[in-house]
Amino acid sequence: MSTTITLPRPDDWHLHLRDGAMLNTVLPHTTRHFDRAIIMPNLVPPVVRADDACAYRDRILAAMPADATFTPLMTLYLTEDTDPEDLAAAYASGLITAVKLYPAGATTNSASGVRNFEKVRHVLDKMAEIGCPLCVHGEVTHDDIDIFDREAAFIETVLDPLRRAIPELRVIMEHITTKNGVDYARAGGDNLGATITTHHLIINRNHILVGGIKPHYYCLPVAKREEHRQALVKAATSGDARFFLGTDSAPHLDHHKESACGCAGCFTAPNTMSLLAHVFEDAGALDQLRAFACENGPAFYGLPVNTGTLTLTKQDTPVKFPSKIETPEGQLTVFDPGFDVFWSAE
Ligand code: NCD
Ligand code: ZN
Repeated sequence: MSTTITLPRPDDWHLHLRDGAMLNTVLPHTTRHFDRAIIMPNLVPPVVRADDACAYRDRILAAMPADATFTPLMTLYLTEDTDPEDLAAAYASGLITAVKLYPAGATTNSASGVRNFEKVRHVLDKMAEIGCPLCVHGEVTHDDIDIFDREAAFIETVLDPLRRAIPELRVIMEHITTKNGVDYARAGGDNLGATITTHHLIINRNHILVGGIKPHYYCLPVAKREEHRQALVKAATSGDARFFLGTDSAPHLDHHKESACGCAGCFTAPNTMSLLAHVFEDAGALDQLRAFACENGPAFYGLPVNTGTLTLTKQDTPVKFPSKIETPEGQLTVFDPGFDVFWSAE
């Protein structure tokens, strides 16, 4: 017997597509299921000015499979030199949908990020004025703060003061990984949203470290204790409109992950919707998947829900996902949840 559910086509509110050969390889895995995605700007060099976003969007559109119904929602990478007028013009024209804040050094390709928040205050004021949302990588980067405490410390020492200083700024707490993040987002007003990744609903820090180091489970923010994972599942499956899907699918070639200094990022684009169906069913909340993956994100961004549909079918036998994907530059590992998944997505 098979069970099916039909959803509006979902969106991914945080996605790394990379560039060049990698872009060509990974893009079809997203366009197969998703109609829109917020495209992260952490290329080398980063997408800083409107012209960069325009050129990157053209490269994405050129890489699209012929039958795709996908719209990339572009972002600019906030630096201490960002020109607020260039940003405002890009937002007004519809070229960009949001701006991304990386604290300098927080994650992959974040060296151009913000060190001194005073230096971007005038840009954030401009964004508040024009209604442009700020996507925030919420981790402090100080050496003296333990990596597992960096999200909680960011909320207390950076995010909360920032939101109090500029309450009109629309902020997305990206890829939250802690109960602290859940609680802060839940208590925020209409100007605050939070994305949750697929992998943070599935793994805790034991998955990375017990029985040998598992580099394909290493991502940033790093997965936390089981109690935090459970808080994320509760938030995602609650129907609360502040929480929505941002996969943070972040492909790196295997030889960059399986290395003495392995890159952070989990590649979940190919199996995300199947995994989410599993997680939501497990939580007894399959009926909330529509809100999390299809409705809450568009509502926050003021966009319509997609009109096409995606059907999830529960099979009698486990779905077979590729464990590796070939790229012209080497292999890429698909996120392995560590359990059988019976939901297929089409
Ligand atoms: C991302 C990447 O590889 O670009 N890595 C990750 O672990 N999530 C960067 C990021 O979103 O932090
Ligand atoms: Zn990311």
